[in-house]
Amino acid sequence: MNQPSADYLHPRVRSSSHPDPGRCAAVLSLIGNTPTAALHFEPEGVTLYAKCEFLNPSGSIKDRFAGAVITDAERQGLLRPDSIILECTSGNTGIALSMIGAAKGYRVTILMSAEASQERRRLIRQLGAELILFKSEGRYQTGINLSREMAAKDGRYFLPRQFENPLNAEDHEHSTGQEILRQVPGPIAAVVAGYGTGGTLAGVGRAVKQRYPKAKIFAMEPAEAALLCGEMPCCHRIEGVADGFIPELLRSAPIDGEVKVTSAEAVAMARRLSREFGLLVGTSSGANVTAALKCARELGSAGKIVTLLCDRAERYFSTSLFENDESNSAG
Ligand SMILES: Cc1ncc(COP(=O)(O)O)c(C=O)c1O
Repeated sequence: MNQPSADYLHPRVRSSSHPDPGRCAAVLSLIGNTPTAALHFEPEGVTLYAKCEFLNPSGSIKDRFAGAVITDAERQGLLRPDSIILECTSGNTGIALSMIGAAKGYRVTILMSAEASQERRRLIRQLGAELILFKSEGRYQTGINLSREMAAKDGRYFLPRQFENPLNAEDHEHSTGQEILRQVPGPIAAVVAGYGTGGTLAGVGRAVKQRYPKAKIFAMEPAEAALLCGEMPCCHRIEGVADGFIPELLRSAPIDGEVKVTSAEAVAMARRLSREFGLLVGTSSGANVTAALKCARELGSAGKIVTLLCDRAERYFSTSLFENDESNSAG
């Protein structure tokens, strides 16, 4: 019997697409309908409602957009058997699109900043996608431009365009937003979340405002890169949010105010969520919860405050979230 080739045993990337829309039914059915947990914080004396997006199948909120955009593209006939899904991402969208590509049999190429964590890179490769790293030097637009140039030269590329695609916000309005309205006993006083593409804030914000017109929508911003507050972007350690520019989708978000959170506060809260609540979540989740607690202090007990836990802690082993702090070395 012929031995299988080494490439067959250890395939690095899918070299051709074999789309099979039926094949991915299992993975698609696992996306969304995440639970919302009521978390009581002491000594603050505050209960927050946290949507557990880290429970999506690839581990982040981005599974929603990845599933929605590929299903929609198939419906519109925009994907062919030789199509290659191409996206510039800070990691989570890349992992989510790679998962959908693997399940549906499409080739996927991900453009990612060379600063993104090792874990994100390895997960993308593990899912059989091709990874191209670019030097962002704080300018995410470099990667977006590169994806457009590649697509202009090769008609096989399909660009989900997460930063400007209205489907991103629409999906959050009709899925995430409606789930929150079903899961959180009203009235909702505020929604607090960071922005990467702005899709979550725009979509969830619209859904919640429609039901509760008095609800406030707050954008969490890294204190080191508070662009909406009119400050210059600088380096921060809250991966997945505030990529150094105000994305198109965020302009349609019904934002009432901003809450600044330092990277140190975000890391400390992500650790607290793990140690006090058993919730293994990433740095942006820590930032969202910190911002939500700051809002609770301002708003008092007027109504429920909702935030999102966007991704899993395992994505951050090589980042400051897992650096030895005093309590780590003591244990
Ligand atoms: C970890 C993390 N948190 C938050 C967000 C923000 O989500 P959105 O792109 O909907 O603004 C992202 C987006 O990539 C993310 O990766």
